[in-house]
Amino acid sequence: MIVTIDGPAGTGKSTAARRLAEQLGFAMLDTGAMYRIVALRCLEVGIPVDDAPALGQLAGSIEMLCFDGAATADGEDVGNRIRTADVTEAASFVAKVPAVREALVERQRAAAAGRDVVTEGRDQGTVVFPDAERKFFLTASVETRARRRAAELKGKGETVDFDALLAEIAARDDRDRNREIAPLVPAGDAIEIDTSEMTLDEVVEELVQRVGSRE
Ligand code: DC
Repeated sequence: MIVTIDGPAGTGKSTAARRLAEQLGFAMLDTGAMYRIVALRCLEVGIPVDDAPALGQLAGSIEMLCFDGAATADGEDVGNRIRTADVTEAASFVAKVPAVREALVERQRAAAAGRDVVTEGRDQGTVVFPDAERKFFLTASVETRARRRAAELKGKGETVDFDALLAEIAARDDRDRNREIAPLVPAGDAIEIDTSEMTLDEVVEELVQRVGSRE
């Protein structure tokens, strides 16, 4: 069985997907981590983020495993290195490149083949797994998402410029929603959940119930 969870950053999507997968006994595929790995290698190798052919080739050549909260690239644990601000920024540019998306979509389908998976990203219900048994689209206001991100950064001891964070999240949303290929939109048959006023526990509970009810 495939359960897809799509939506913008800061909706609690990743954590909710992980906890849902744990409760169901499914694997959890983090497809954002795959775009982040391509971005990390792109920065390391020094490929310009607009060199589409080179990026497509790069995306097809990295061995990546992004299950259950772990992220490895060619056997190296890159879990922390793909979460830096530079990689986050570069990922939203490499994700616009059709050849990168093609390479990663193929890998995502192969990774999920024959197993029970909760898969999380932007295009899982629309493009990658259009026949998934259950589809969710999580949303939250941009202010809520910026507040959550600020709290997360403060928790790590980082200083936060809230207005800059808000602008950065809005710009990333804009790139994700308005790109030509696989833009961030809910699938027609996705269940939309606005998490702005919900705790993480409530989000997980709702997902579990909806998967179970299959109405
Ligand atoms: O979910 P995230 O922040 O880790 O995603 C990193 C970037 O990759 C973000 O800019 C959106 C993009 N992405 C995408 O285009 N398609 C996906 N299936 C997952 C992520």
